[in-house]
Amino acid sequence: MARLWLWAGGAGLFLALLVLRSRFSGCRVLQEFAFRIPRRTEEVLYRLDVGWPTHPEHFTGTTFCVAVDSLNGLVYVAQRGDNIPKVLVFTEDGYFLRGWNDTVDTPHGMFATSTPQEQSIWITDVGSGSFGHTVKKYNSFGDLVQVVGTPGKRGTGLNPLQFDSPAELYVEDTGDLYIVDGDGGLNNRLIKLSQDLMMLWLHGENGTGPAQFSIPHSVTVDSSGRVWVADRGNKRVQVFDKDTGAWLGAWTSCFTEEGPSSVRFTPDGKYLVVAQLNLSRLLVVAAPPVGDLGPCSVVSTIQLADQVLPHLLDVSAETGAVYVAEIGAKQVQKYVPLEGSFPSFR
Ligand SMILES: *[C@@H]1O[C@H](CO)[C@@H](O)[C@H](O)[C@H]1NC(C)=O
Ligand SMILES: *[C@@H]1O[C@H](CO)[C@@H](O)[C@H](O)[C@H]1NC(C)=O
Ligand SMILES: *[C@@H]1O[C@H](CO)[C@@H](O)[C@H](O)[C@H]1NC(C)=O
Repeated sequence: MARLWLWAGGAGLFLALLVLRSRFSGCRVLQEFAFRIPRRTEEVLYRLDVGWPTHPEHFTGTTFCVAVDSLNGLVYVAQRGDNIPKVLVFTEDGYFLRGWNDTVDTPHGMFATSTPQEQSIWITDVGSGSFGHTVKKYNSFGDLVQVVGTPGKRGTGLNPLQFDSPAELYVEDTGDLYIVDGDGGLNNRLIKLSQDLMMLWLHGENGTGPAQFSIPHSVTVDSSGRVWVADRGNKRVQVFDKDTGAWLGAWTSCFTEEGPSSVRFTPDGKYLVVAQLNLSRLLVVAAPPVGDLGPCSVVSTIQLADQVLPHLLDVSAETGAVYVAEIGAKQVQKYVPLEGSFPSFR
């Protein structure tokens, strides 16, 4: 008798489990369906390279900026702090090569240019000491080659050329320089200079209107002749014609939560990679090939840990890797394109 009850109970339990299981799996299908519909379809394009660099203990200060010399496979990092090398040189593979600290006061932004004959690294210096308020060019061993601006004297002048807090720069193959000045302080300027430091055009007004700035923090140039500026305080990216300086438009809709602090293109020119400092976030934004800017559209988001604070970044034209200088985490991290995400390069 007892056996019969046991059998009946077991069968009942089995039936009940079957019913529950089918109900729950049905539910799960419905849930996935319901959750997928409203979600924006973002792609995953990059993965963090946890092995870069091989010896992160070389980051001994606050890492403000990074620049890639793609031709020679070098990654330059500038950091702030006392009694430390201000500039660190790594290979794209992550090996530390050397550092230097001469003639750099308070680095903010940097840019690497290279030809088969000459390797150069440019650094903007926002310090108040005798090397400050300048944009400087070094060779790859840290020898000072050229100084742009009036060292040690902050100002708004154009003749002689003065900077206050030059935030960043972009250097074209022709030698033309685009400098954003600055990072708060006296000036809100975007200046284009020729190789021999003649001013070609300038936008220098503080404000919220077209071609006015509030903390122009980063600048880059695309292959169709447009200059892109992270106008951080105004929470927008503004775009200009590189030859005339004419205003071409602005993107605001992607940056309503926080303004952009850094702008760089991927090597295929398809995406603009943007850092948002306090949100500790990178946005990969679709870039229009030529003509009309069109609407701003985020293709992918890379959320970093809280308080990592990505300040300025650079992209390797050779490998497509994105290097991010993080002032909160005091390190530079490398994000590599996932296989297949950028068919145009390996
Ligand atoms: C930089 O400065 C520190 C402290 O003065 C010194 O120990 C170091 O050798 C200097 N050079 C480099 C490349 O770090
Ligand atoms: C720019 O304008 C804003 C708003 O009027 C003002 O608060 C700020 O001090 C100005 N900056 C400079 C450098 O004049
Ligand atoms: C980030 O937050 C700090 C501290 O609250 C603030 O001073 C700074 O202006 C913010 N930066 C940006 C880009 O919003």
